Amino acid sequence: SPTAEFIAGLPKAELHVHLEGTLEPEVKLALAERNGLFLEQDTVEEVQATYEFDSLASFLAVYYPAMDVLRTEQDFYDLAMAYLVRAKADGVVHAEMFFDPQAHTGRGVAFADVITGYHGAAVDAAQIGVDAHLIMCFLRDLPADGDPNSAEATLDALLASPEFTSWVIGVGLDSDERDNPPRKFAEVFARARQAGLHLTMHCDIDQPDSIEHIRQAIHEIGVERIDHGTNVVEDDSLVADVIDRGLGLTCCPVSNSFVTEDSKATEIVDLLGRGVTVTINSDDPAYFAAYVAGNYEALAQKAQLSSDQIIELARNSFRASWLTDEAREGYL
Ligand code: HPA
Ligand code: ZN
Repeated sequence: SPTAEFIAGLPKAELHVHLEGTLEPEVKLALAERNGLFLEQDTVEEVQATYEFDSLASFLAVYYPAMDVLRTEQDFYDLAMAYLVRAKADGVVHAEMFFDPQAHTGRGVAFADVITGYHGAAVDAAQIGVDAHLIMCFLRDLPADGDPNSAEATLDALLASPEFTSWVIGVGLDSDERDNPPRKFAEVFARARQAGLHLTMHCDIDQPDSIEHIRQAIHEIGVERIDHGTNVVEDDSLVADVIDRGLGLTCCPVSNSFVTEDSKATEIVDLLGRGVTVTINSDDPAYFAAYVAGNYEALAQKAQLSSDQIIELARNSFRASWLTDEAREGYL
């Protein structure tokens, strides 16, 4: 359609994509084969049949076990490169990609293999015209410290190597939000900031204590973006804080429609109209069947977006990015 072509043709940044969420069924099957692993599923259809979820928790219960096929540095490289090639076709010229080291180190994969594979793909993405960066996420349902696979131990593994540290632009927080507030990670995030890393956190759609978690992320952690964060629309004073601080929201309409049965299109467009730096992203495109352009298209259709609104969303993706101000100017 003309809208699809227009959207794919707009240069854009993707700021909320989990590399582990780009694991397509074909790739899962191929990696199982390559690594000599037994899988319950033999076909793409059988893998897709396991994709049954209607909430964040039920999604995560499918998502983490599927990652077990990722074993070697080459696996992480291939996963990220396949995403970058696909994103490029959607008009992505700049990507800040989440990864979950604890989901791998917790099952015996070396931290160095995860980060080296992903970093290799980020470097090679320059050859296809994508400026790619990594954001290291902590799993909020694991301990903040006092455990070999804690957030603190994971930050230690990064900061122990100046080279690894230079491969990451920021840290994030994902996984199961219930009873895992931003405050739990205050010390870890303070250390990451000290190390010069950018800060973002998920405040997922319609979670228990959503507003309180957004408040903590802004006022206790000092995040520069909020991933999802769409529930902020329920609290005018927090919307004002988001605007005053120039915080970006990385919204994911198709993901929302899986975990809440509502894309939150009305709320996203409301926030856009109020001057919030709202951006559109894919979250876990292999699971939600839409890469970034598909997310713009779904929102455009649902909310009857004008081309000016679509352009504004694409410009916001650079405004909310962690490009240097000079590089950002080149895109705006
Ligand atoms: N929220 C929390 N954890 C996640 C998500 C998300 O949107 N995607 C992948 N892990
Ligand atoms: Zn996410």
